[in-house]
Amino acid sequence: MARTMLQKPEDYRLTNMDDVSCHSKRMTGNRRRLLQVGIGIGGMLLAGPASLLFRSEAAGRTRAVQAEVATISGRGSLEELMALALQHEHGAMIQYANHAGLLSHWINPIFATSIQDIIADEVEHTVTLVNALAVRGLTPTLAVWPPRSGDQARELILMDIAAEQGAVELYTQMLEHDLDPTLRTAITSIRDAEILHRNIFNDLLEKV
Ligand SMILES: [Fe+2]
Ligand SMILES: [Fe+2]
Repeated sequence: MARTMLQKPEDYRLTNMDDVSCHSKRMTGNRRRLLQVGIGIGGMLLAGPASLLFRSEAAGRTRAVQAEVATISGRGSLEELMALALQHEHGAMIQYANHAGLLSHWINPIFATSIQDIIADEVEHTVTLVNALAVRGLTPTLAVWPPRSGDQARELILMDIAAEQGAVELYTQMLEHDLDPTLRTAITSIRDAEILHRNIFNDLLEKV
């Protein structure tokens, strides 16, 4: 994360944009650890009134973030969407680091272990965006989309689900533009990672 905030734009080109890995794919191992400490992941199927309430709350948060993203992006150009996504990635990194620390303190350190893989993915997404902006002669922003926090574990994870849904919407909007094949592959990979992140947070929501 520190490298993202400190390096000059040209230094980001060290990463091949074709090589978009996904740290959160290693969540399978993290899930195994969650099970080992007795707070295992229960899968995506929700059951019972309490879970339905959680899902309803998550949907409400998601709509709010979607509306916020739509207001900012409108019918933005590809470059505007990439700049907005870069801010969103910066904000997500800060928000998730905060939430990982709080959840680790309140519930179990394994939450931090799980969320750090998602943070690593967001860092890689910033590298891709910075590269794409730089090759277009644009200076990548260090602006930060406002991160959110709270004092309830469930509230935090609902915020994270909403943030991921906002990211999914942003990258989906980008894919509606005329992209070169390399960038399309990279953006598609990021969009898919955001969907995975959203699903992981949905799993975590059942554990708080
Ligand atoms: Fe991301
Ligand atoms: Fe994400």
